[in-house]
Order: sequence, then structure tokens, then C-alpha cells
Amino acid sequence: MAILVTGANGQIGTILTRMLRQKHGREEVIASDIIRPNYDDDPFLMLDILNVQRIREVIEDFEIREIYHLAAILSANGEWNPIKTWNVNLNGLLSILDLAREFELDKVFFPSTIAIHGPTTPKKQTPQEASFLPTTAYGMSKLAGEHWCHYYHQRFKIDVRSLRYPGIIGHDSLPGGGTTDYAVEIFHEAIKKGHYTCFLEPDTRLPMMYMDDAMRATRELMAAEAEKIHVRTAYNLTGMSFTPAELADEIRKHIPGFTIDYKPDFRQAIANSWSQSIDDSKAREDWGWQPAYDLEKMTSDMIVHLEKYYLNKPQ
Ligand code: NAD
Ligand code: SER
Repeated sequence: MAILVTGANGQIGTILTRMLRQKHGREEVIASDIIRPNYDDDPFLMLDILNVQRIREVIEDFEIREIYHLAAILSANGEWNPIKTWNVNLNGLLSILDLAREFELDKVFFPSTIAIHGPTTPKKQTPQEASFLPTTAYGMSKLAGEHWCHYYHQRFKIDVRSLRYPGIIGHDSLPGGGTTDYAVEIFHEAIKKGHYTCFLEPDTRLPMMYMDDAMRATRELMAAEAEKIHVRTAYNLTGMSFTPAELADEIRKHIPGFTIDYKPDFRQAIANSWSQSIDDSKAREDWGWQPAYDLEKMTSDMIVHLEKYYLNKPQ
């Protein structure tokens, strides 16, 4: 059974591809992206998600049975070119869903996001179903994507599964143009320079998750029996919620001299439109979701790994 990962060179794709290869074997997991990774990542294909015929050939040539469709343009970068963002994010997904139907694929994974939230969404403990009126092209494309996943499941029985990831924080890959990127950048700057200038205000509370938890949630969702998956739009999911000031305080427990200042930019308005915390009880009920990392545990793990990385990095 071969698996295709789109957007495999991104923050999540890099780690997800590695996890899938550990489980299924290197040759069985085909990584693809429009940017080649700068490390050995074979089997890797240059694959634009808008090139439907090429994706069809890849499915045939590699006898693909599952697709993890990560290719997307994220919330902040997406605002520089909203039409392109809609095209890549939504039309890319529609091609994958339609090819899943054509080839009767076993499963598709589609990551959704807290960016589907908007000003009308309840800010605290956001429920699974709520008013969603996203303010970004990225959020609109993901919300529409969730509905198309639901449609393809209801109408064509496609086994497509989805999670609304919060901001993802990891030490082994860099974020690619989102509004939650500060929560990764801050660790690199704290270790390298002892100082970080944050593009969000100190009290901007957002839902977040450590990469290890995000990968385990993805694995557990995809391994669950189909009868247990009652949500075919996307599951709410969360690990923790914090503000930049709280994260800085936590980092200071490990790096006492660390300083932070704040220069909010256009990403502040995006962050303000998202919820502060998430009710993910549906994921807990349906397939047993339990996060393992809180702010304290995540911070100390990030610092241990990144200190080791910068110590051994050639100058
Ligand atoms: P990323 O920006 O790091 O990676 C996305 C990848 O998609 C990039 O490597 C990019 O080159 C690729 N890509 C862009 N356009 C493409 C195209 N036309 N064809 C093929 N590939 C293309 O993003 P990420 O953080 O790894 O996110 C992966 C997925 O998870 C995305 O769908 C994103 O919406 C979702 N997600 C991420 C987060 C997060 O905090 N990282 C949170 C919620 C949801
Ligand atoms: N972390 C992502 C972003 O900020 C949420 O999808 O765009």
C-alpha cells in the first residue's frame, strides 16, 4: 500500500513523512512538493497540486492507496494573493477528492485549521459546531474544504478524515507563513540571541499544539475504525492555549536573561479573529484523543532539542 504526501516539504509534512515512513517503510511513502527538500528525502517527486494529470499519473505509477494532502498556502502568506490561495487550497483539495473517487482510494487526510474561526465564533472553548465566518482567504478555503470533504464522504463514500489543527510547534522544521509562527520563531531567537521581537501583542491567546501530539492525533485518527468517525467535516483539536507573554515567561525559566518586545503587524488582526481555546471533546469521545504536552512540557522539550541543534550546527 503506497501513500502520497503532498506539501511534504513543509513544517508538518517533513515530520509526517518521517513518521509514515517509520511505520510503513521508506519506499511506500512518496513525498511530494513544489520545493525540493535540502536533505535526502527520497522517494520525492516535484508535484504541483494544480497539475491534476500529473497527480493521476503518480497515483497510477506508484499504486497509491492513501493521500495525506497537506499542500496549502497558510493564513499570513495567503493574504498577499487571496485568489491564488483559494485556487491552491480549495481546487487542490477538490482534485484530490475527485481522484480518490476515480481510483477508489482507501483513505484521504486533509488538515483543517482554527483559521476557519471568525468574529462570530465563540472565543472560549469553541464548540465543534459554531458560527464560522473566516476573515482570511486561507480560512475560507479550509472551511469550504471541510464541507467538500463532508460532501464527498456522504455522496461518494470517500473515507476522508480531517483535524482542525491549532498552531503547531515543533523543533525539527520551520513554519511556512502562518499567524502562529511566532510560537516557533521565539524559541530559535531565544537560544540564538536571547531576544525576540514578536509580531503579535503580549496578551494574544491562541490554541496551540506540540508537533508530537499533532502527529499522534493524525496517526490515531487515521487508524480509527471508520464507524468511530462521526465528524466528516473536521474534528476540533487542541493541546494548550497561551499568550506570547506567557510563553516568554515559560522560556525565561530555562533562559533567565531572555527578553521580548512587541511590534504587532497585519497578523494581529488575523489572530484577533481566531478563538482562544477549543472544546475538542468530540475527538476525545469518538477516537479517544488525549494531548500529552502542556505549555511547560512543550517548552522544556523544545529548548532541550534546539540547544542541542545549535550546539552541533556547523558555523
Ligand atoms: P507549510 O507552509 O510549512 O507547508 C506547505 C507546503 O505546501 C510547502 O512546502 C509548500 O511548498 C507546499 N505547496 C504550496 N503550494 C503548493 C502547490 N501548488 N503544490 C504542491 N505543494 C504546494 O505548511 P504546514 O504548516 O506544514 O501545513 C501543512 C498543512 O497543515 C496545511 O494544509 C495547513 O493548512 C495545515 N495546518 C497547519 C498548521 C500549522 O500550525 N502548521 C495549523 C493548521 C493547519
Ligand atoms: N498555524 C496556521 C496559521 O497560522 C493555522 O492554520 O496559518
